[in-house]
Amino acid sequence: MTTAKVDERDWLVWPDEGVSRVPYQVYGDPTIYKREMDFIFRGSTWNYLGLEVEIPNRGDYKTTFIGDTPVVVTRDMDGSIQAFVNRCAHRGATVCMDQCGNAKTLTCVYHAWVYDMKGDLKGVPFKNGVNGQGGMPQGFDMEKLSLQKVKVDTHLGVIFGSFDQQIQSVQEYLGEKMCGYLSRIFSRPVTVLGYQRQLMKNNWKLYFENVKDSYHASLLHLFFSTFGVNRLSQRGGIDLDETGRHHVSYTYGSLNEDLEAYRNSDLRSYSSKYELKDPSLLVGRNEFPDGITLAIQSLFPNMIVQQIHNALAVRQLLPKGVDSCELVWTYLGFADDDDEMTKIRLKQSNLVGPAGFVSLEDGGVGELVQKGIVGGEKEQSFVEMGGTSVESQPFRATESSIRGFWKNYRELMGY
Ligand code: FES
Ligand SMILES: [Fe+2]
Repeated sequence: MTTAKVDERDWLVWPDEGVSRVPYQVYGDPTIYKREMDFIFRGSTWNYLGLEVEIPNRGDYKTTFIGDTPVVVTRDMDGSIQAFVNRCAHRGATVCMDQCGNAKTLTCVYHAWVYDMKGDLKGVPFKNGVNGQGGMPQGFDMEKLSLQKVKVDTHLGVIFGSFDQQIQSVQEYLGEKMCGYLSRIFSRPVTVLGYQRQLMKNNWKLYFENVKDSYHASLLHLFFSTFGVNRLSQRGGIDLDETGRHHVSYTYGSLNEDLEAYRNSDLRSYSSKYELKDPSLLVGRNEFPDGITLAIQSLFPNMIVQQIHNALAVRQLLPKGVDSCELVWTYLGFADDDDEMTKIRLKQSNLVGPAGFVSLEDGGVGELVQKGIVGGEKEQSFVEMGGTSVESQPFRATESSIRGFWKNYRELMGY
């Protein structure tokens, strides 16, 4: 008797329209989630792990995740950056439990196996047993019991990790254009101003779509439109890399440019009744020579770089099961900022984060979709704003970068 081989890919049939449709099943199917962890996060991608400035000294470490796999990133005693899976080679316990710290070695609490900052096993209690009894068998080889190594590459002080030891360099993976945008923020030394973390009750891809969706900004975010911070009528566009997997949405213009034209339009979100009691929130400096005042860059599969006027941040997206994800915000300044500039950045950072005047809604709409699609696994979304193609466009009333995400997703997942 032969058994038919079941391929879980058969469970998902992508609509004939291609990337302008997304089957809702992809946001709620645990089998698809598991496949994403294998084929995307533990596959041939570079995942944001952190910044060199977070682990400046020998022995510094931080814990994070690639997809849902726990990972430790360290600055080894030789100064190199290392990363390995945070899972003891003995019986699988999490070895490092702190979010960050400094140490010469890492010791698993369970049976006290000791690892160095490269993740190599250096000590095993009772290795030779007690009073001649027990202990590890002959041939026990500590060299074979390292923590699982993660490949590391850095670019402009940003640390990336991959489970694919053969993967191309980060620079090649990002491509020239995306490296160019990344260098807007990371070409000079940065400092970390603080962190925020937020749990969202939606599939990770719904947040990634939101980030790539420039269409919603002036519609969903009433704060933007009410106070004229960002309007779809401002000059800007969408830039994609060749594969479509990374993107930048950019806007030019000062706070007051064509505000009048906008006020005369009949958008529901504009109301002249409101004004800020403390307008200093929107006082800032023009600091980027290219004149771009708002840039959101997404680097597949887990990094978002944000410049909203002077509020700079990296957002790291961590899947936490099929219907939940976490967003880690790292707020940035430049090392040579004066005190006033730091205050400006911190004040403007009230726009973003879990309770930000603008970002609050982004943390909510994913959940609206997650709730809305229940029972609609065979239905699909409609993603035709700006056409059906995947391309850079000199305007923002488009969903082109969302289609780019799905193009790459389908290739990696085999759908
Ligand atoms: S599980 Fe880590 S030492 Fe036993
Ligand atoms: Fe948004």
